[in-house]
Amino acid sequence: MKVTVVGAGAVGASCAEYIAIKNFASEVVLLDIKEGYAEGKAMDLMQCASLNGFDTKITGTTNDYSKTANSDVCVITSGIPRKPGMTREELIGINAGIVKTVASNLIQHSPDTILIVVSNPMDTMTYLAHKATGLPKHKIIGMGGALDSARFKYRLAEALEAPISDVDGMVIGGHSDTGMVPLTRLATRNSVPVSAFLSEERLNQVKEDTKVGGATLTKLLGTSAWYAPGAAVSSMVQAIGCDQKKMFPCSVMLDGEYGLKDICIGVPAIIGKNGVEKIVEIELSNDEKEQIKNSAEGVQGTNALLDV
Ligand code: 2OP
Repeated sequence: MKVTVVGAGAVGASCAEYIAIKNFASEVVLLDIKEGYAEGKAMDLMQCASLNGFDTKITGTTNDYSKTANSDVCVITSGIPRKPGMTREELIGINAGIVKTVASNLIQHSPDTILIVVSNPMDTMTYLAHKATGLPKHKIIGMGGALDSARFKYRLAEALEAPISDVDGMVIGGHSDTGMVPLTRLATRNSVPVSAFLSEERLNQVKEDTKVGGATLTKLLGTSAWYAPGAAVSSMVQAIGCDQKKMFPCSVMLDGEYGLKDICIGVPAIIGKNGVEKIVEIELSNDEKEQIKNSAEGVQGTNALLDV
């Protein structure tokens, strides 16, 4: 499969690196507007091939979209990342224009592609990509839930003093500090509900730490994180490329599911060769329903700032 990653910054490069290391794609094109930058990152990554044992061919281009033609999957990471103290929503002014242009350019050269949106505010940028391209709704997916769930599992494992491979859990809702809904009720350690091991107070702490997972890293790093976002994207690209039919919480266009319409927000979905193959509706508690409703109101408020 051919994958394009737009934005050769930390998230884009990390995403290209993990895709290559997993060795399922024949080709990755990195595209950036900064002269020579994507070419440089691609060359550096290709010099890892013999060391890391992959055959994926990574090339870079400075804004030449013809090089991205006929990509099976295109990942949009472009735009500015947040700085410490900023919310993801504050990035909308600059990132909306960038994402709109990038999505339209990509579709011109790869009309049948599946788009994965990473740029923030992610749920709103995913919504914007739908409006800007008119692609069928199963072909645009926002990456947030896979990352937030990975952070949730990290925090759960820490609280349980357990290996992460023992833990399962999922975060739905908007990819924002206030919008995430970590489903502690459904989280398990080897099928045993985590509430059997952790007090309500400790679980609430896990939930709060998960919600500010990105902000905590931004404060430590001075910019937003890249390893886990890159790994999360690469897992989604692999699910499409290898038709894995894997379930990820991700930002998808809803049409009545979870009582929501005309909004992209994180819910569980089956991801395979066609992109979003099914939206999975799970039974939520009244409290979780209330949290999703509030989260959706937040996303809708940000969507209202778009010029679409
Ligand atoms: C994060 O949460 C970049 O939004 C991304 O780290």
